[in-house]
Amino acid sequence: TDIKVYGIEEGFLGLYEDHIHEMTNYEVSGVLPRGGTILRSSRFNPFKDDKVLSKCLDVYNAHKFDGLIVIGGDGSLGIANDLYQKKKFPVIGIPKTIDNDVFGTDRTIGFNTAVQTAMEAIDRLHTTAESHNFIMIVEVMGRHCGYLAAFSGISGGADFILVPEVDVKLSEVVSSIRLRHKRGKNFSILVVSEDANIFDDNGVRLAETKTVVDEYGKIKLGGIGYQVKQLLQKELGFETRYTNLGHVQRGGSPIAVDRLLATWYGSYAVDLAVKGDWGKLVAYVDNQVVAKDISVVREGKKQLPQKFYDLAKLFFG
Ligand code: F6P
Repeated sequence: TDIKVYGIEEGFLGLYEDHIHEMTNYEVSGVLPRGGTILRSSRFNPFKDDKVLSKCLDVYNAHKFDGLIVIGGDGSLGIANDLYQKKKFPVIGIPKTIDNDVFGTDRTIGFNTAVQTAMEAIDRLHTTAESHNFIMIVEVMGRHCGYLAAFSGISGGADFILVPEVDVKLSEVVSSIRLRHKRGKNFSILVVSEDANIFDDNGVRLAETKTVVDEYGKIKLGGIGYQVKQLLQKELGFETRYTNLGHVQRGGSPIAVDRLLATWYGSYAVDLAVKGDWGKLVAYVDNQVVAKDISVVREGKKQLPQKFYDLAKLFFG
């Protein structure tokens, strides 16, 4: 089939500003080992107001495209769904975020690499924690979803993990670490998700970093680990240190499973487009790539299943 592919730069901002160019095989060759996105990204919402939306639609129509493939996380795919439902826009969504928080798919591109990166960082932090008898607090991203914290924490051998899905009392964390130290360990590693839920014994939330809201209506998170560090230092009296892995988790070269998933998703999405099968999310379910109605992204909130937290808990305290 003779297909022409155009790249829209910086997400929906490029659609609004008509920053669009034809992408050749030459341009995408060599992209496999690269993280991030060669088209760059923005958090521009085409539904911001009617004028913005109609400009986006005008630009799209002027190019006479057959359809739009949206590669992104929960926010971008939610917009793709709105474009399809409200404007009959022919879209196909591909889930790509380190958060693994897209409802309807088991995996998003980038998640496994971020887990690997965070795990390696936890391994490195072990060195100093063990040598200097530190309690190490490692803050990881993931937004309101505990996958990244749980998977990196389990594989990195964390001694406690705090995730958004599970409410934990500070007193539980304190006694778990005390017990571990009583049993002869002189250090501990705690992995804290950026939206972790930690409470005092009266149910008052002790740490949170909800500050600014971006154009997607999303809260900017980050920094909660410092508050957890202060709380634990005070309660336990052990030397406690805090590391926020931040955007390190989004950088570097993708690991093999992510390259395979991205290739599989991409090829599947093109097959759907050629068939004219729009309004779909490309999803990974039970080790297979399948197509689901894109509305699935708004059917629920992707959460860390309890079984994974139970697995992590086997190693607490
Ligand atoms: O959605 C990916 C993500 O890295 C989240 O884990 C994190 O909360 C957010 O993006 C950070 O956003 P920004 O790069 O705008 O600081």
